[in-house]
Amino acid sequence: MPDASAFAATPTKTSVRTPLAVQGGTPVSATPVPFMVVGLSDADIESAMKVLRSGMLRSAAKCAELEARFAEMSHAKHAMTCANGTCALQLAYEPLFRPGDEVLVPAWSYIATVSMVVARGGIPVFCDADPRTLQIDLADAARRVTGRTTAIAATHLYGCPVDIDATQALARRHGLRVIYDAAQAHLATYKAKGIGAFGDAVTYSFYATKNLATGEGGMVTTNDDALARQIKLLRSHGETDKYLHESVGYNYRMNDITGAIGCSRLDRLSRETDARRAAAARLDGILSRFDGLAPAAITPGASSAYHLYTAVLDLGKVRCTRDQFCDALKAEGVPTAVHYPRPLPDQPALASFATDDYPVARRLAKTVLCLPMHHALTDAHFAIIEAAIAKVLSAYRA
Ligand SMILES: Cc1ncc(COP(=O)(O)O)c(C=O)c1O
Repeated sequence: MPDASAFAATPTKTSVRTPLAVQGGTPVSATPVPFMVVGLSDADIESAMKVLRSGMLRSAAKCAELEARFAEMSHAKHAMTCANGTCALQLAYEPLFRPGDEVLVPAWSYIATVSMVVARGGIPVFCDADPRTLQIDLADAARRVTGRTTAIAATHLYGCPVDIDATQALARRHGLRVIYDAAQAHLATYKAKGIGAFGDAVTYSFYATKNLATGEGGMVTTNDDALARQIKLLRSHGETDKYLHESVGYNYRMNDITGAIGCSRLDRLSRETDARRAAAARLDGILSRFDGLAPAAITPGASSAYHLYTAVLDLGKVRCTRDQFCDALKAEGVPTAVHYPRPLPDQPALASFATDDYPVARRLAKTVLCLPMHHALTDAHFAIIEAAIAKVLSAYRA
């Protein structure tokens, strides 16, 4: 069986050195296909500079502008900026369930979706992943409802909305609150509608690598006026007037420098999301020509924002592990990432809440890999990706 060094020694003809991640035009590492594109444009920098020059650093006009525009683009009535996506989850969770409540959560997600349930005093009830979409398995979720279940927190993982109709139907049947974690899914749609108003609340992250990246930053959207008011109060010490505090809250505010960067990046987010979708279609086409590596299926009716392009390696068709496969792709100039290397019930911090085997999530931890995905992939990049997959799959063919 070849190891990764065999691939490094025989680069494909198309291997041209280009950066792993472009940061404001500055290469940070030399590999042929950038895995992602991060960094600010001159317009983003100028937008932030204007705020710096104004001296108005607190949450002010730029945060308000980001909220108004994001709400409109996500088809939600209210959008509330906050410090990051983890704060967004806390702001949404606190009014929607109580300590001791059971909350249905995905076994396959980023930790914050679940750890913030624990931070609220809730009891996370892990649900396995759907083997096709890799999203929360709603049939499994339905089996786990008890008299103490009051909410479901579902992640729109990799940028792809979960089956929202099925989630809402489950919630209606059992009187559950619904929080969608859309940290990775800005501008995704479900049945041609923005995802911002489905369920009780939707949360987002603007972390440095997200589709809309401000460094740190977050948002909550909702159509519920009373909930929006509660979230605004929680965000800023329950303050209704200067030094008048109606309730106990936090300081989870976004500052206006971050708001300005967010507004500037929002100018091109639709265009970049379309480009991600076009790139995903190209990658789908490439994978359709091979046996052994298949893309995660998109939920019927959903349009993914493709924060990540995730594929599953069929270990029955190759004589290597997923990590060896990724090492070989890297040697061929195609960087990959693993989201995620372990299911949440296997995280030491959450293991005490595990009650089951979660066979799909456990299998995914050994088989998923994410291929390069961003708005600036070129024909040359796709050629490198296709050649690399062809070479590595045929070398490791079982
Ligand atoms: C699904 C998901 N939820 C929540 C978060 C937390 O967001 P933040 O890092 O902005 O706190 C992330 C960030 O990676 C995420 O991917």
